[in-house]
Amino acid sequence: MSAGVPRIALRGDLLDFTAAPAWGDTESAAPRYRADHWLLIEQGRIAGVRSDPPDASWEQHDHRGRLVLPGFIDTHVHSPQIDVIASYGSELLDWLTDHTFPAEARHADAEHAQAGAVYFLDALVGHGTTSAVVFPTVHKGSVDALFAAAETRGMRLIAGKVLMDRHAPPELLDDVDSAEREMEELIGRWHGRGRLAYAVTVRFAPTSTPAQLALAGRLCRADPSLYLQTHLAENRAEVRWVHELFPQARSYLDVYAEAGLLHRRSVFAHGIWLDDADRAAIAAAGAQIAHSPSSNLFLGSGLFGWRAAEAAGIRVSLASDVGGGTSLCLLRNMADAYKIQALAGERLTAWKALHAATRGAAEALGLEAEIGSFETGTIADVCVWDVAVGAVARRRAEVARTLHERIFAWMMLGDERNLAAAYIAGRRHVDRPAA
Ligand code: GUN
Ligand code: ZN
Repeated sequence: MSAGVPRIALRGDLLDFTAAPAWGDTESAAPRYRADHWLLIEQGRIAGVRSDPPDASWEQHDHRGRLVLPGFIDTHVHSPQIDVIASYGSELLDWLTDHTFPAEARHADAEHAQAGAVYFLDALVGHGTTSAVVFPTVHKGSVDALFAAAETRGMRLIAGKVLMDRHAPPELLDDVDSAEREMEELIGRWHGRGRLAYAVTVRFAPTSTPAQLALAGRLCRADPSLYLQTHLAENRAEVRWVHELFPQARSYLDVYAEAGLLHRRSVFAHGIWLDDADRAAIAAAGAQIAHSPSSNLFLGSGLFGWRAAEAAGIRVSLASDVGGGTSLCLLRNMADAYKIQALAGERLTAWKALHAATRGAAEALGLEAEIGSFETGTIADVCVWDVAVGAVARRRAEVARTLHERIFAWMMLGDERNLAAAYIAGRRHVDRPAA
């Protein structure tokens, strides 16, 4: 994969995590901050960290004064929805009908899907995200296009054909038999190939018949290395609809659990409208919630109970959920997450947010040996950030008294314009001049 990539030494202020920070702890020992150090990358992997410069056999990339972090991991994002980001005027169900489904229908065209996949992945990396869990569309070609584009870039990507066999426009519907055939073909082609993995991708309970949910469950049971991704309890009208469609289920989550879709590799986007029994079940399964803050605010979905989820023992990761979300940049989503917690009377530390987008997400996905930190032997997916862009942010950084204060101001004020460089498996994909 990385043959021919030189030995690289990145100089900068290295920040990663050795453990999960506790809620509210700004003085946490979990972040590992190594000011003005060298990150060594060999054959696309982290080879070590040192405080003094390595010898001339290493290609030196001098990012002095910049923050160097593991690339962010976006655990829930829709590749075809770049075209409907920032669409005015509705909550979830109308937004799907008015904006999202028409955009996804255009991906029936293979050329459109291919161009869209390339555009999407380049945009993702340009926003500081080097790994993602992605919804393409119901079309097999959109899945092939996305995986192929990720493979070309050497990216860690988890995705799968969107399943929906009811309650969507006819051009977006599949059926149980064709879905089974296509999934088997796609899993055979992509699952476990390089850095790619397949996720059984149920859009959400309302758009799959019980027979299709059962098919998804059978696949998960047959191969526990498959991921499962879907939406869960995002919006109140959606939750009511699920209760109407599945009157026998105790809760929305229960629909998935009964179908065999609640397991260690399940990624549930949102999880806002849950009760204690749901939270306990998600925690017991070891599944994760992909918290999508900018989407939750933009679509008016609700305030995610991060602290309750954590208290229940649920793994919480961070996601953009573009196009419901308003930025691919996870920094912007962290700022929104902070504001959501503030509205709920809680405080989200920068440590908690950054951990959720790096090591926390990697652990939730079972990929901590590959991504999310600077541990030796992990793959060198690395992003380099300017601490401040613009006069106000620069001033704020200058007067910060503690490390948390400085990093928090970067998190709240920064976005993709702060991204100076991005490396995927040691290859540079973004390289911007100093701000
Ligand atoms: N629920 C079902 N589909 C979607 C989607 O595309 N975006 C969001 N945010 N929620 C959904
Ligand atoms: Zn979504």
